[in-house]
Amino acid sequence: MLLIDTRKELRNHLSSLKKNESLGLVPTMGALHIGHAALVKRAVQENSVVVVSIFVNPTQFNNPEDLENYPQTMVADLKVLEKIAKHIIVFAPTVKEMYAEKVASTTYDFDGLDKVMEGAFREGHFDGVGTIVEALLNLVEPTRAYFGEKDYQQLQIIRKLTQIRNIPVEIVGCPIVREANGLAFSSRNERLSKNNREEAAFIYKTLKTAKEKFGTESATDIMDWVTEQFEANPYLELEYIQIAQADTLEPIVTKENNKKYRAFIAVYAEGIRLIDNLALN
Ligand code: PAF
Repeated sequence: MLLIDTRKELRNHLSSLKKNESLGLVPTMGALHIGHAALVKRAVQENSVVVVSIFVNPTQFNNPEDLENYPQTMVADLKVLEKIAKHIIVFAPTVKEMYAEKVASTTYDFDGLDKVMEGAFREGHFDGVGTIVEALLNLVEPTRAYFGEKDYQQLQIIRKLTQIRNIPVEIVGCPIVREANGLAFSSRNERLSKNNREEAAFIYKTLKTAKEKFGTESATDIMDWVTEQFEANPYLELEYIQIAQADTLEPIVTKENNKKYRAFIAVYAEGIRLIDNLALN
């Protein structure tokens, strides 16, 4: 495995590769779990060269405490990647290497995709994500880049980013990987107590029931029902439940037959923020 920490070295290495090689990029913030491993495995299957970036991007954290507490587990991360494939290139730059002297985001017009849900509750978050993903795509120039559907809004925003910046890359969205109890894998799950990690299974369970209800009940009734379920749960605090169109992320007004919808949710468990989403039709 090759571990590179400067942009220059990465560019030099990539430019020495043959022109006809396909290149997969998996951007991560480290603390790799089974969900990340699924992205990397898919990238390894579909490309001859794979770059995994490990970079905790400061500009996408709206909460300084969250940034401070973000797990940094480089040694374990490298072990995870080595088990998947020996030829992976790991790019792990410092903040200075990526941002030089000015740790700041670009401001994007994502056509409203960033104004709802995560964007509404985490100010500036998607400008920060856009800034780092644009920088990584321009640096690596991958054939394909892989992102998990757990951050479904992020995935749609990154697709939009590549359109507005004309970046020639295929954005591959990969299905959510869940723990045995249904909780979506997240680096944050490690911070939950054993009890709350079990209790957090309630999030997916509630989404699944919302999906069952979607055939017969109105979206408003379903969102009210989800809110009531969390009000009665002593371990979990609901931040939002939103049913929205899957492509535009526009909050649902009335159900239309030819449209696809998803339910999006954010929940706090002992101060740890967990998100999830599920296709409803
Ligand atoms: O999903 C993540 O881990 C991050 O938002 C990403 C895409 C690596 C950008 O920092």
